[in-house]
Amino acid sequence: MTSEQQNQTSGAPATQRKEAASKPRRLARAHDKKLRRWFWRDYIRGWMPWIILGLILMAVNGAMTGAVSALLKPMFDDVLVARRADMVVWIALAIAGTFIIRAATAFLYRTIMAYVANKVIAAMQIRLTDHLMALDQGFHHRHPPGHLIDRVRGDTQEINVVFERILPGIGRDMIAILGLLGVALYTNAQWTLVALVGVPLLVLPAAILQRLVRRMGVDARDASAAASTRLDEIFHGIVTIQRSGLEARESTRLTQVLKRFIKARVRTAGGEAAMGSMSDLVAAMGFALVLIFAGRQIIAGQSSVGEFMTFFAAIAFLFEPLRRLGGLSGAWQTVLASLERIHKLLQEQPSITQPVGELAAPPAAGTETIRFDNITFAYDSEPVLRNLNLTAKAGETTALVGPSGAGKSTIFTLLTRLADPQSGQLTVGGQDINRMDLQALRGMFSVVAQDSALFDETLRDNILIGAEDISEDRLNAVLKAAHVDEFLDQLPLGLETRVGPRGSSLSGGQRQRVAIARALLREAPVLLLDEATSALDARSEAMVQAALDELSSERTTLVIAHRLSTVRNADKIIVMEAGAVVEEGTHSELLAKGGSYARLHAMQFKGQTD
Ligand SMILES: Nc1ncnc2c1ncn2[C@@H]1O[C@H](COP(=O)(O)OP(=O)(O)OP(=O)(O)O)[C@@H](O)[C@H]1O
Ligand SMILES: [Mg+2]
Repeated sequence: MTSEQQNQTSGAPATQRKEAASKPRRLARAHDKKLRRWFWRDYIRGWMPWIILGLILMAVNGAMTGAVSALLKPMFDDVLVARRADMVVWIALAIAGTFIIRAATAFLYRTIMAYVANKVIAAMQIRLTDHLMALDQGFHHRHPPGHLIDRVRGDTQEINVVFERILPGIGRDMIAILGLLGVALYTNAQWTLVALVGVPLLVLPAAILQRLVRRMGVDARDASAAASTRLDEIFHGIVTIQRSGLEARESTRLTQVLKRFIKARVRTAGGEAAMGSMSDLVAAMGFALVLIFAGRQIIAGQSSVGEFMTFFAAIAFLFEPLRRLGGLSGAWQTVLASLERIHKLLQEQPSITQPVGELAAPPAAGTETIRFDNITFAYDSEPVLRNLNLTAKAGETTALVGPSGAGKSTIFTLLTRLADPQSGQLTVGGQDINRMDLQALRGMFSVVAQDSALFDETLRDNILIGAEDISEDRLNAVLKAAHVDEFLDQLPLGLETRVGPRGSSLSGGQRQRVAIARALLREAPVLLLDEATSALDARSEAMVQAALDELSSERTTLVIAHRLSTVRNADKIIVMEAGAVVEEGTHSELLAKGGSYARLHAMQFKGQTD
């Protein structure tokens, strides 16, 4: 707050000031209510039969505490003081019985709660992940994978608190407190008031601590997400880190993030512990007062020892559940903080969506002419494509060449709708791609990307991804065409070898061949090749190129290449610079023109002969 603002608020009439302060709080409360309702409707309501069963078991469990304390009076007065040997066994059985019931109910409700909690958490994790997978590139560029993993795994785990602490707090501790209070009041109402006189003192500190705990809970989750992001970057970049000797630097960065985490965690724990200690102090005060007060009455013969024992046990048992209940609102605050983040992520709307209204059918085979009409596109604020126009005719091979960063790969990004342009129209076969079913649109393309992701699965699964009912013969033909068969023998388990995280146990050229095999298998009508053979040696490249040429001869193909030798046979070559088309034509036309293409060509030719 600036000093000016401060002056304004302090100068305002008291009622206005109060309103200004309570408005955000009112909003926050309304927001919490919305969160509670959402959590209840989507995740809790369906489990109510189990939860009610659990609550009943908890109530029985809680009631047993009162029963034990109540049994102390007959034990002392009727058995021990009155010396009635015949009653000993009965009292012993009754006390043992209450403990057996306590043990059995605790076992059952804990198991039930663990079951429900894990089901709810898993449902939440799946829903979150499904939602995150639908969000666009822009979102994923803003939220690193480590951060999202922490949201999906960490924030949802906080929900456990509801089942481990809050529900038992309500079901078991409330009943225990009511039961014990009943026993205490029934035994001696005066003593009870004396013992509990300090309890109201707990209310204000509890309210203050609760707010602190929530804020710290938010900080702790933030720091935890930051730590996960660091770890994700470290383990994904492990080769670079080791090769450049960055271990110490990474370690320091992680230490800093963890410092924040520790601070928030220690404060949360401190807040909760402070609550416990406060109630201990109040308990101490209560005990002292009761001893002074009741002790005199017993000595004077006004009350029995049994009465005191039952009362003392009831009050002693009372403070433990009371302390647990005191911590509950803080615990609920941390749950709310996590729910808030989860809910916020679920509110993120994908900007790439299914079209509403009537869908355009994907174009018939052989008519997939691709047109970029006056397309302008920016990932952030700076346009990457500027009023770009290009056409790739159906059935032909169109090559995109140009310097690094010219926007070539971005053409593929827009075509497969991983991002949408800010202006202009993009059509395939005359149909606006925004009007096509998203799955159908993406299904039209076989893509070999510049950096195709491999998964930590077997080579076979990596090649088959998505494709079903592929015969072994066809698979073998594809393996041969993509020259995957050449390195199969070197792998310990052949096709069944796991390729490691992101395909790290394969060489760059091998990974590229896997990506090509995938594309060959997909048999989609349009082929998009982004530097598909750049990592291969000259001999393999020539052979894989032959397979790709054969594949593209019957398909609409867009190919991006730096090595011009691979595109000289294209039906049309489009030269891009800084997000716009600067030249187009066939290889010989462009050479004859003596422009950008001719210069690029001359440079590469020179490079090759030097
Ligand atoms: N996800 C992204 N977020 C922000 N900017 C991006 C993103 N991807 C690419 N860019 C920017 O867009 C521009 C064009 O990138 P693009 O990948 O299309 O280039 P390219 O022509 O394929 O280059 P190369 O030949 O090096 O692959 C670059 O300046 C790049 O920095
Ligand atoms: Mg590129």
